[in-house]
Amino acid sequence: MIVFTLRKNIRNTVKKLKEAGKTIGFVPTMGALHPGHLALVKKSLEENHRTVVSIFVNPTQFDNPDDLAKYPRILERDLHLLEQTDKDLLVYLPLAEDLYEGNVKAKSFDHGGLDRVMEGAYRRGHFDGVATVVSLLFDAVQPHRAYFGEKDFQQLQIIRRLVESQNYPVDIRPVPIHREKDGLAMSSRNLRLTEPMRKEAPFIYQTLLKAKEMAEKGMKPDLIKENISLLYEKSPLRLEYFEIADEEHLRPAENFEPGKNYRAFIAAYAGDIRLIDNLRIK
Ligand code: PAJ
Repeated sequence: MIVFTLRKNIRNTVKKLKEAGKTIGFVPTMGALHPGHLALVKKSLEENHRTVVSIFVNPTQFDNPDDLAKYPRILERDLHLLEQTDKDLLVYLPLAEDLYEGNVKAKSFDHGGLDRVMEGAYRRGHFDGVATVVSLLFDAVQPHRAYFGEKDFQQLQIIRRLVESQNYPVDIRPVPIHREKDGLAMSSRNLRLTEPMRKEAPFIYQTLLKAKEMAEKGMKPDLIKENISLLYEKSPLRLEYFEIADEEHLRPAENFEPGKNYRAFIAAYAGDIRLIDNLRIK
């Protein structure tokens, strides 16, 4: 495993590998790695000669300074996990000033309306921060393929649009959500759940499954939304939003139109910890 911190070094190494005919997969992360992240790494290892994993808690995508300060940072453990996964990994640990070339600020992007709902509506500037750092990372790493989890489905769609609009020669590869046995979507933030809240948190996935059942029975999106919101009134979890949207444009659905795929999306607080999840329901 080789560790890089400067963009010119990772870029030169990747350039040489590409000149030698190797394909490069890239997995951007913010660390506190769990099996969900490792599923992305494994897919990249299967599909490419070499894989770059980046770990960088990107300050420009946090709208809440407290969330940024408390984001789990366990670099030693992360490096150990990666070393065990594959000895040939290239690990990129950017320094903010170097990656951002001295200007650690988000640029503004036209996300084609994909940012108007859900995470974009509730976390101001979040997707500009994500698009900024992902562009900088793509520029530093210049991979053939990059891997993103469906756990952050809205992010995945925003990155797909970014790549299309900026003509990045990167193939965006989606990876399904990795869950704990009780259905809770794996997340670095799960580490911060209190024990009682960890027990309550699988309720989020249960309500997504209920929404799917309702959709399969022919219930309309608005009624499903109403029913699911009611369920949260009796739960210790605090619902921030429950939305049903088409997968392509992420427009809140009034009806389920034939030939389109729809997902239910949830953000809820378990104590102080904000969790998100989603599921294809139609
Ligand atoms: P982070 O939350 O660390 O996630 C890194 C990648 O792992 C993302 O593509 C995310 O969707 C994926 N992932 C996380 N949990 C997953 C799970 N349970 N199953 C499948 N995939 C999962 O997302 C980010 O970091 C940042 O926004 C980043 C893209 C790195 C930009 O800073």
